[in-house]
Amino acid sequence: MVNSKIQDRFISFEGLDGAGKSSHIQWLVDLLRSSGKKVTQTREPGGTPLAEKIRTMLLLDDMDVETEALLFTAARRDHLVKVIEPALARGDWVISDRFETSSYAYQSGGRGLPRDRLAMLDYWIEGLRPGTTFFFDLPATVAADRINQARELDRFEQEQQDFHNRVRDAYLHAAQSNPDRFVVINANQSIEQVRSDLEQSIQTRFGLSLPAVAA
Ligand code: TYD
Repeated sequence: MVNSKIQDRFISFEGLDGAGKSSHIQWLVDLLRSSGKKVTQTREPGGTPLAEKIRTMLLLDDMDVETEALLFTAARRDHLVKVIEPALARGDWVISDRFETSSYAYQSGGRGLPRDRLAMLDYWIEGLRPGTTFFFDLPATVAADRINQARELDRFEQEQQDFHNRVRDAYLHAAQSNPDRFVVINANQSIEQVRSDLEQSIQTRFGLSLPAVAA
């Protein structure tokens, strides 16, 4: 297996659809920028023109789970070589809405692809791992209520409750297996409370002074 390459300036956000990551990601990006850091903000699947095309296929077209895992990996490879690695090399912080943990949660946890099959795909992304991953945790029923009100559902959002329960369990398993990397945020609270929990963990991990944002 490929050795993991952990990058401290690389942060990912993970969670079920409907966990409400987006506004908090933007807040962290603004916080880092206001404290003088250069930040590359990105997302998966996507982040490059080619990966965005693959994203459309992944969200709309039927396929078996192996094909799905390979396409997510192809999109991730393109994202890695064109955006993430160059950004890290020039000293940027990289904040990504999802990275490899989504594949473990959705393709392995949700769809049942054996984990060792997925681990083989690590080779194609050079074993890269974010130094910190914020996992926004909430019950699948709550997440489903949020997305049902919000928009037309893609292939993953249309999956049954059981699927999303398994995805959540896989995320929790990942977080428990690697407590140094993962920060579990209780996303089943008011947006203010979630923000305050996130602020606290960011202060602890990165020593960023929050008043800098207001300045
Ligand atoms: P996302 O962009 O978070 O969805 P939206 O724009 O609807 O908020 O991600 C799209 C879906 O892709 C999401 O349901 C999770 C899924 N996904 C995987 O199954 N595996 C992966 O490796 C990644 C990155 C995403």
